[in-house]
Amino acid sequence: MNEQPLSLHEIPAGVHSAADYARLAAEVMDPALFAYLEGGSGPGRTAAENLAAFANLGVVPQPLRRVSGGHTRCVLNGQQRPHPIMLAPVGSQALFHADAERASAAAAQATDTCFIASTMASLSLEDVAAVAGPDRWFQLYFQPDRQVTRDIVRRAETAGYTGLVVTVDTPIQLPSHRALEAGFVPPSEMANLRDYPKPPAQDLEPGESEILCGMMRGAPTFGDIDWLAQETGLPLWVKGILHPEDARELVTRGVSGIIVSNHGGRALDGAPASVSAISAVRASVGDRFPLMLDSGIRSGADVFKAIAGGADAVLVGRLQAYALSVAGALGVAHMIKLLRQEMEACMALSGCATLADVRDTDLVPLGAGR
Ligand code: FNR
Repeated sequence: MNEQPLSLHEIPAGVHSAADYARLAAEVMDPALFAYLEGGSGPGRTAAENLAAFANLGVVPQPLRRVSGGHTRCVLNGQQRPHPIMLAPVGSQALFHADAERASAAAAQATDTCFIASTMASLSLEDVAAVAGPDRWFQLYFQPDRQVTRDIVRRAETAGYTGLVVTVDTPIQLPSHRALEAGFVPPSEMANLRDYPKPPAQDLEPGESEILCGMMRGAPTFGDIDWLAQETGLPLWVKGILHPEDARELVTRGVSGIIVSNHGGRALDGAPASVSAISAVRASVGDRFPLMLDSGIRSGADVFKAIAGGADAVLVGRLQAYALSVAGALGVAHMIKLLRQEMEACMALSGCATLADVRDTDLVPLGAGR
């Protein structure tokens, strides 16, 4: 593993908000890589909708309430956290910075933030564990061979990850038109998977679909979630749920939490924004069931809106990659600090002393996108 010290850049001039990292990333990144990062599946309608849906929600100020003495603590699976922001699993981080996951994991530790390492990380889960803080979770993609899936789970447990996120919304992933047009070529080898044999190609009968019969062969079902819950003692979160019925079904199967997500628009194009789906999911699982949200968060006000909609906490994907590209570990830590400040300012001006108050806040339509 790379034992070099992390390169700690200066915070670039002109970064006044978390969203500024998106603007600067567009300036410093290779255009094809930026197209890959920005793009959603196919034409990217859902990726755009994620941003528009947040922009269309307003928060009504409530100035005269006492908020001094407030805090941003939240409790997930019985564990108290100082704030409700986590770093989403984002694969292949060496694309964005030479320090790759070492940088984002260090930034997470420095800011009391949970780091979720991806199955598709540039570094192996063991190497990430060696540099990450104790608050680290592992994101699992089911593999076509269940023995391989089991082995990855065992490795994550042995390496001291304290939560397991199974992502279910992208058993196949259609590339972004924008990335294709820009000529982006994705990395082919994944550190976590390189020691396992490649699954054999499947012969198809006439009329069988390559996608439905071939590529979807290893896709997880509700039964596989039951299997996984039996396999691991770690808290199990399912990521990529938008339908209230699916959420309800997962609650009955005993998972520890659900992440309402459309994969940042990188799964089914045309899916609704997560922030538009969260209220119905919250209603279906009840007030106390642990729910997180990602997809489209670019500011602390968006974190506020996600929680007002029904989430207990949020994950940030692209913001992490923007900040990593612009300024490595320091950039990611700075981005999280800005997000927290923006969220706290939104709480202060809307009369919310705690996240429980935020959950009780009604959002209003703004019409910003019209
Ligand atoms: C992702 N995401 C993702 N999710 C996952 O479960 N495993 C993974 O390996 C990846 N890899 C990945 C790479 C890149 C470049 C992006 C942009 C996203 C999805 C990610 O965890 C999260 O759901 C979205 O990024 C959230 O949307 P925002 O915050 O990017 O709008």
